[in-house]
Amino acid sequence: MSPAVPEQISLLDGIATTRAIRRYTSDPVTDADLEQMLWAASRAASGSNRQPFRFVILRDGPNAVSARRLLGTSFRTGWSAKREADGYRPSRFADSMQHYVDHFEEVPVVVLVCLERYRPPSPYEGASVYPACQNLLLAARALGYGGALTMWHLGVETELRELLGIPDPVALSACITIGVPAGRHGPLKRKPLGQLSFDDRWGRAPEWLGSQ
Ligand SMILES: Cc1cc2nc3c(=O)[nH]c(=O)nc-3n(C[C@H](O)[C@H](O)[C@H](O)COP(=O)(O)O)c2cc1C
Repeated sequence: MSPAVPEQISLLDGIATTRAIRRYTSDPVTDADLEQMLWAASRAASGSNRQPFRFVILRDGPNAVSARRLLGTSFRTGWSAKREADGYRPSRFADSMQHYVDHFEEVPVVVLVCLERYRPPSPYEGASVYPACQNLLLAARALGYGGALTMWHLGVETELRELLGIPDPVALSACITIGVPAGRHGPLKRKPLGQLSFDDRWGRAPEWLGSQ
């Protein structure tokens, strides 16, 4: 059974409240729910509908356990470097990041989202894989789970390729963690729409914008 979903939420409410979830309970992600999330991910658009996204699921198989160990080390190194470089002070955010990386190996599901390249790497290739990632996160939200899209797998990319048999032309585009949120989803901190959209020419704020 899915974790208790407090309410059925609309697509727009899901979009408005799907934030990065980095603290999880020890509840599992059911097979059926994981399948549904992956199905939603696989419905995403891609260039020429080539569907180059691939999902490597890391749960409790022998390779998965080794991969999660590698990833845990890489995540801790990644956060430590970022905390230092960006000068994070003690805060709820810094605490939640530290908790995330310290407990990485316990995350119920890790999905390595890959891109099977069909032409040389280009700056635009992510456009055919990240919509699938967002679908995955939205579907997780709809089913009572939460997730975070991360890039800290890149620190152990070579080792992961070897361990998981990922061929050279395949890009490791994202590492998404999924579980039942220990906290809650909620309103997102984003810039006002008026700072992000222009009317008729660059820089002109749309007069017709309402209160969003
Ligand atoms: C391209 C991309 C890369 C990201 N990389 C990381 C990461 O390496 N580690 C991490 O903890 N979160 C990562 N995130 C999550 C963002 O930090 C998070 O979505 C953003 O700060 C907004 O916070 P919110 O989702 O809680 O509203 C990434 C998100 C995106 C879209």
